[in-house]
Amino acid sequence: MSHLFIAHGPRDVDALLSVHETMRQASIPTWYTPAGAKDVDPEAVNTAIDNAFGMVVLVSASSIRSRSVQAQIQRALDRGLKLFPIRSDNGRLSKLFKTALADQLTDSLSDEGALDRLVTDVRKRYERRCPVIAVMNLKGGIGKTTVSSQVFGAWQASLGGRTLLIDLDPQYNLTQTFFDMDHADASSARDKSVISLFERSRLHAFDSLSPAEDWSKIDTAPFEPVTRDLISHNILSGDDAPGGRLDLISGQFEISKYAFAPSPQALAMVGANFRRMIDYYRSEYDLIVFDTNPNATFLTRCALEAADRVLAPMHPDVYSLRGVRLLNQVMNEQVSADKRPELSVLFNAVGRSEQSNFEADARNGAFDEQAGFALSKALLSSALPRSGHLVVRSPEAGDDPWKQLVIHKGRGGGLKPIRETLRGIATELKRLEEA
Ligand SMILES: Nc1ncnc2c1ncn2[C@@H]1O[C@H](COP(=O)(O)OP(=O)(O)OP(=O)(O)O)[C@@H](O)[C@H]1O
Ligand SMILES: [Mg+2]
Repeated sequence: MSHLFIAHGPRDVDALLSVHETMRQASIPTWYTPAGAKDVDPEAVNTAIDNAFGMVVLVSASSIRSRSVQAQIQRALDRGLKLFPIRSDNGRLSKLFKTALADQLTDSLSDEGALDRLVTDVRKRYERRCPVIAVMNLKGGIGKTTVSSQVFGAWQASLGGRTLLIDLDPQYNLTQTFFDMDHADASSARDKSVISLFERSRLHAFDSLSPAEDWSKIDTAPFEPVTRDLISHNILSGDDAPGGRLDLISGQFEISKYAFAPSPQALAMVGANFRRMIDYYRSEYDLIVFDTNPNATFLTRCALEAADRVLAPMHPDVYSLRGVRLLNQVMNEQVSADKRPELSVLFNAVGRSEQSNFEADARNGAFDEQAGFALSKALLSSALPRSGHLVVRSPEAGDDPWKQLVIHKGRGGGLKPIRETLRGIATELKRLEEA
């Protein structure tokens, strides 16, 4: 479970104790370097920041001068961590404290009710359930996997926050976008993969059998979620990796077994396990994204019931139109109103000539009737162009996974506008989530 990191200067002992004690009474776990400790392992501090859901910064003459506190704030900023600065004395603001914290610095620990306000703000973050977006269309090959990686890789890089990608497609192309097949298969051979969200596996108990081995059995026994580092792969790894947290729960072919499940009751229980796991990880991340399979299956239902938004990429053609029509129909007929996600549609692989025809007609409502819903209103205003930069290339052995993301690619003809478009789509989606 995530904790609240408390950044403090060497002389902030009283303030540290009072914040720690207040959080303890509010049952909010905290992490801080022991007051007065000299040799704190910087790696342990970095890991604690990476695993935190937020950071309280005690602002004092002592912390403002402290190099380690500055490094802690910088790391939090790089990782999109929510900051809660509060004054503990009148030290004059400088450096990061001035540029990054001054705007939010409204309270002082000695102000009446300041600690109560701090607890309320922190608790809001602690109990937050992050948005879950399913990238889906009941039509194959229209860019679901490309959007899952490139748009949400750009979201993480530009808008911050901790992002978790989950490969729910038994073809596991999203996983293969970042890792070579051998790496991905070795990972699922240890159950460090998506099947561990559905059934108890060797990730939960070393002496269990792998649910991937025997397709005729479905284990309905309940299990506890494992910490995110045990189940996910860190995409932003490697020496010169960009900051932040972008994780992947890798996919595998064996989740196809649910298509052959003999008992609907067992399947319902496995589906409930999945929803419970997603609910747990919703408080560990700031965004969860599913890449999904193109046909309507049990996995489709799981994704629809756990997501609060469906993002449907579509090509500007009638086949894709049919795909989103079916998708909307399935959402309305098969998912109860209280669990039904919102639907947004994104044009992908748009070329110049199509742009002026099909896309414009769609935006004008010309296809709303054919789609069976107000497609023109569900469309995002930005669209992803057809571009060689977005064509998937398998990673080469030993490549860092994040290098597959266009947002992190160096210079190159036409890259800049694509990156801007990716950022624009991410920003638009984030606004919708916040609305
Ligand atoms: N905007 C784009 N420009 C150029 N190529 C693209 C674009 N979007 C997707 N592609 C290419 O189209 C192909 C299909 O894309 P992708 O795998 O993302 O589709 P998908 O919907 O996930 O397919 P599936 O239904 O099989 O899961 C890939 O080769 C990908 O590189
Ligand atoms: Mg795909």
